Amino acid sequence: MRKVTVRAPATSANLGPGFDCLGMALDLWNELTVERGKFGVTTTGEGAGELPDDAGNLVVTGVKAAFGEAGTALPGLRYTCRNMIPHGRGLGSSSAAIVSGLLAGAALAGIELTPGRLVALAADIEGHPDNVAAAVHGGCTIGVRDGGEWIIDSVSVPDDMRAVLYIPDHQANTHESRARLPDQISRSDAVFNIGRAAMLVNALSNNRLELLRHATQDRLHQPLRGQAFPAFKHIVRGAMVGGAHGAFLSGAGPAVLALTTGREVTVAYEMAEAARIAQAPGNTKILSVSPRGAHVVEQE
Ligand code: HSE
Repeated sequence: MRKVTVRAPATSANLGPGFDCLGMALDLWNELTVERGKFGVTTTGEGAGELPDDAGNLVVTGVKAAFGEAGTALPGLRYTCRNMIPHGRGLGSSSAAIVSGLLAGAALAGIELTPGRLVALAADIEGHPDNVAAAVHGGCTIGVRDGGEWIIDSVSVPDDMRAVLYIPDHQANTHESRARLPDQISRSDAVFNIGRAAMLVNALSNNRLELLRHATQDRLHQPLRGQAFPAFKHIVRGAMVGGAHGAFLSGAGPAVLALTTGREVTVAYEMAEAARIAQAPGNTKILSVSPRGAHVVEQE
């Protein structure tokens, strides 16, 4: 094979209480073309001029890992990224890059990667499975590690559920924001999150969305991350005033995601208005949950 084009979706991780475990794929895509030739990385769209144009780009990391899996030396390759996923906002742009690289690399190296192996390779690079599992499988996923193995399952979500996003203009550094989180938490905080994560999965799969206002609360990461982003609580409140079922920090933020069935435009307006008053410039997007994960678009 000479050339392959793949797509990988945006993902929102944590969904409130499911820190590093729960994720959801959104209908917003990055497209990557990898072809044999002289090495080079070109990015257009989101992240253009910001993302590395050398081997430090995560699409290259993904392709390298696939060739490593195949046991084949990495040939000269040219990478073209057409990105729609905002970078550094908590929408899984890193996972999309890793997963699309792995998928493209596997096609060029001539190996078949099962979804399970794709998630494992991607989660080993990323360190946690929440974004990558949703990026590979689509829909809503739960990922846990048992020994060295990543175990993934899917959670069904109501067809008419939408994600309303407020995407601030500023970026958050996931690495730094994770480093600030404490290694230990109290038993009462653990109980707070365990109950809500369980209730969240049940509420989504049984279409009991009225439970989401409780089930999306969190004490593991949002309180600390919210301190660094004071507009966060106002944007969440705006979403609830607008009629959202629940709202939370998308991944490490700063994007805020509200789950809705109807009233999307009102929710988006209220989130934007709260952000305006709190002086956090940005924009809104209304997205469907993507039932489809990363896939090959064409190859020659
Ligand atoms: N679960 C991760 C976090 C997602 O919250 O840090 C972002 O990579």
